[in-house]
Amino acid sequence: MLKKLFHPSVLKSPMDFKPFEIDMHSHLIPGIDDGVSTVEESIDMIKGLHGLGFSKLITTPHVMGDVYNNSRETIMKGLDKVRAAVEQAFIPVEIHAAAEYLLDDAFSNRLNSEKLLSFGNNYILVEMSYLMEPINLNHILFDIQTAGYRVILAHAERYRFWSRKHEKYQQMIDRGVHLQLNLLSLTGYYGKDVQKTAEWLLDNQMYSVIGTDLHNAEYLDELQKLQYNKLMHKLHKNAGNFINKNLLTS
Ligand SMILES: [Fe+2]
Repeated sequence: MLKKLFHPSVLKSPMDFKPFEIDMHSHLIPGIDDGVSTVEESIDMIKGLHGLGFSKLITTPHVMGDVYNNSRETIMKGLDKVRAAVEQAFIPVEIHAAAEYLLDDAFSNRLNSEKLLSFGNNYILVEMSYLMEPINLNHILFDIQTAGYRVILAHAERYRFWSRKHEKYQQMIDRGVHLQLNLLSLTGYYGKDVQKTAEWLLDNQMYSVIGTDLHNAEYLDELQKLQYNKLMHKLHKNAGNFINKNLLTS
C-alpha cells in the first residue's frame, strides 16, 4: 500500500501540455469519421483539450478510401459548425482543420488531382495501414514531397511491422519525414509493444511532433491520467525538440 502511495511514476499535481501549444491530430468534426458524433461532444472534447493546456488545435478527420471518403468540402463545412459552437461557448481555443490521409490508392489519385488539406508551411498528416508497409512507400513519399508538401507520419510507433526494424525510422527522418507521437502510446493505451517503440523513439529524440489523436471521451480520460505520469517531465524537458508550436506558421 505504502509503496503504491509513493510510487515514483505518479506525480502529486498534474503537468500540462502548454509548452507544445498546438495539438495537431484529433477527430473533432462530428459525424464524418470514427471521432466525435455530435457538436456537443466536440465541444466537450475541445474544452478538455484546452484544460490539458492546448491553445490551438488542428483537427484531422480521416480521409480513407471509401471508408471515410471525406473531401475539403465535408471537412471545412464541419469545421465552420464546430468553430461557431466554440465561439458560442467562449472557449479560448483556435481551431483549424486538415486531414489524416491514409496512404492508399485513393490517396495517390488525390495527390495527382487536387490540393490536399495542409497546415502551416504545407505540412500534411499521413498514416499507413497497420498491417503492412505500402510496397511503394518511398515512391509515394517522393511524389508527395515533389508536389511541395512536408510529411508528418501519424503515430509512427503504431506500425508493428517496424517494431523490430527501428532502422526504418531513421530512414524516414533522413527522407525529411517528421515522426509524430501519439501521447497515449506512452501509457500503453495501444499495447505494450507500441509503448516500447514509443519510448525508444522518444529516448532517441526521433520524434518532432506530438498529438493526442483524440477521438472521444475515453481518450480524454486517459490523457488526463497521463498528466500525472512522470513521463510528463521527460516531455517537458524535450519540448524544445518538437515543432508543434510552429506548425501553423512555418
Ligand atoms: Fe488519427
